[in-house]
Amino acid sequence: MIQYVGVNDHKVDLFEGQYKVPNGMSYNSYIILDEKITIMDTVDIHFAEEWIENVKKVLADKLPDYLVILHMEPDHSASIERFIKEYPNITLVGNTKTFTMIDQFFPCLSIKNRMIVKEGEILELGKYSLKFVFAPMVHWPEVMMAYEPFTKSLFSADAFGKFGALDIEEDWKEEARRYYIGIVGKYGVPVQNLFKKVSGLEICRIYPLHGPILQDHLSYYLGLYQTWSSYQPEEEGICIAYASIYGNTKKAVEELTSKLENTKVEVFDLARCDLASAISKAFQYSKLVIASPTYNNGVFPPVEAFMHGLVERDFQNRTIGIIENGSWAPTAKKYITQYFSSSKNLTILEEGVTIKSKVNDSSSKQIEALAEKLKSH
Ligand SMILES: [Fe+2]
Ligand SMILES: [Fe+2]
Repeated sequence: MIQYVGVNDHKVDLFEGQYKVPNGMSYNSYIILDEKITIMDTVDIHFAEEWIENVKKVLADKLPDYLVILHMEPDHSASIERFIKEYPNITLVGNTKTFTMIDQFFPCLSIKNRMIVKEGEILELGKYSLKFVFAPMVHWPEVMMAYEPFTKSLFSADAFGKFGALDIEEDWKEEARRYYIGIVGKYGVPVQNLFKKVSGLEICRIYPLHGPILQDHLSYYLGLYQTWSSYQPEEEGICIAYASIYGNTKKAVEELTSKLENTKVEVFDLARCDLASAISKAFQYSKLVIASPTYNNGVFPPVEAFMHGLVERDFQNRTIGIIENGSWAPTAKKYITQYFSSSKNLTILEEGVTIKSKVNDSSSKQIEALAEKLKSH
């Protein structure tokens, strides 16, 4: 039997120090009850006591044999020390890199029993067993997954996780995309490599370290991960990301949006919105419009932060339209074009818009032309 013993965090202000999580976060942990009793990962340090209570309720008076550590990021590993105090004879199961990190994070911890596993190694638990599938750089180097063949379950570490606690009902895709693009987005190639490794496994259930256990329509979740990790757009549509100092660039964006009837459009004011959401939406759609005032010979700082977030996550395979504004020397378009110059397979539309202070007849015609191009391209 596999039992959930994770916790919900509604106190976290920023997950991983940067992501807003209005619906909280779950740190998942599981117990496999068999001849050998196995705990799959620990939880964030703030929930160590609650988690140990959950574990004890399931164990009753039994003692666990193994603590398997799939990922050493502290949202999953920080309670290892507390757990060893409770169960000093437990055997910690990890790979070489896992134990290097354990020694870094817990330099004073004495571990009685360490089991170092290799890629493909099988840990027999009784009726159940765990086959270890290494997933380096999804999204840390020590990450591994574990496949349990009796139940056809994949313990997937952070993969297939999402933002949001488990006691809140919300759409999986939106927060899973924002989580994936934000945290794993740069590592599309390692995710693709992992897909090749697990392609021969029959998977009926996925047990991630965040978010719900996935068991119905697995092809839906796997398909989205294929799309995201291969940097393909999920759908035709336009993400418009802008910043505006006095409202004139915003007016240009509103004029453009009004001309994009029958097209799926989402607009983000980069100075005010959640940046991770805007970045995630840029990856969702096939087209992106960036609108920025010229500022210190570049772009307005929130636009720079947005573009940095795209480039560092290997933004590619999209079409970009640019609206620049500048009262005396508009250079934002040139700056944006150069910014993406080493990105793969991006088409920057020639039909850009240059505004001098505010939209006039000439720039209005350019907006019209950009809208037509975006609809037809
Ligand atoms: Fe992680
Ligand atoms: Fe995590």
